[in-house]
Amino acid sequence: MTSPIVPPFPASRLRRLRKSDALRRLVRENTLTSDDFIWPVFVTAGKGQRDAVVSMPGVERLSVDLLAQAAKEAYALGIPAICIFPYTDPALKTEDCAEAWNPDNLSNQAIRAVKDAVPEMQVMTDIALDPYNINGHDGYVVDGQIVNDQTVEALVKMGLAQAEAGADILGPSDMMDGRIGAIRTALEAEGHQNVSILSYTAKYASAFYGPFRDAVGASGALKGDKKTYQMDPGNSDEAMRLVARDLSEGADMIMVKPGMPYLDICQRAKTEFGVPVFAYQVSGEYAMVKAATQNGWIDGEKVMLESLMAFKRAGCDGILTYFAPEAAKILNG
Ligand code: PBG
Repeated sequence: MTSPIVPPFPASRLRRLRKSDALRRLVRENTLTSDDFIWPVFVTAGKGQRDAVVSMPGVERLSVDLLAQAAKEAYALGIPAICIFPYTDPALKTEDCAEAWNPDNLSNQAIRAVKDAVPEMQVMTDIALDPYNINGHDGYVVDGQIVNDQTVEALVKMGLAQAEAGADILGPSDMMDGRIGAIRTALEAEGHQNVSILSYTAKYASAFYGPFRDAVGASGALKGDKKTYQMDPGNSDEAMRLVARDLSEGADMIMVKPGMPYLDICQRAKTEFGVPVFAYQVSGEYAMVKAATQNGWIDGEKVMLESLMAFKRAGCDGILTYFAPEAAKILNG
């Protein structure tokens, strides 16, 4: 009787591919480079002004002049795009949010200054009324309700002002229905057909945005929550409906936000639609890494790079991350 041939060794030795750094690099499936980053920045009024954002160690609000310089340095590090968020003087917040489409508001000044300082860099914006809204919401509040269609009209004016200031990529982050189509139609009508839209498509009503609201001075103003317009964290199919909808209305790229807790949504969006997908590693995610690092509980640099690589593995084309300059410096060696 012949016994079956059983090899005296494991049939598969996957460790053979992990035996050296060189071989690991050779078979690595995903890579992270500074090309993957959009750097979100906060702009404040004044000149030569730089204020620390306490809940986001290492992040500062910069005045327009310093921001233009920082953008130049970021582009030199290989970061292709910047996303501008204004810290708005509370005195400029009103019920009609008119400051949002003021051609000379802080955000539009910053767009012009960055395009002037580093024309090659892609400048992205945020479209939502919250920085200008007396009650801190992304849309108009009428009788306690966030009204959709009136808000969309205001968002169109806001987006056009940004396009006119020279923005390359508009980022509607408000989650109103119909805003992508309305903004795209207005851009076409006004001769801005080359302005791209990166829609905050699957934006969840998340507790991870806390430090950001401090950074832009919106936490004090916000009454209630954003659950009637931002997504329920329990949902996934709904995100796919939103991706399909935003693409059909004229979005060029889509975003999932927050990032790491929603990698499953990133992966579904990429595999089901095959379009450029971005994740926003938001303020709370950044703050957690920094806080644990400051306590000596984690190796901040390694955790940062691992978290960013996770987005690439999930299928993202890029990441909006406050780590952009810090990570780019390390990746550039
Ligand atoms: C504005 C906006 C928010 C963020 C980006 N755009 C806050 C919010 O929706 O309350 C959050 C970004 C971050 O937390 O880093 N609509």
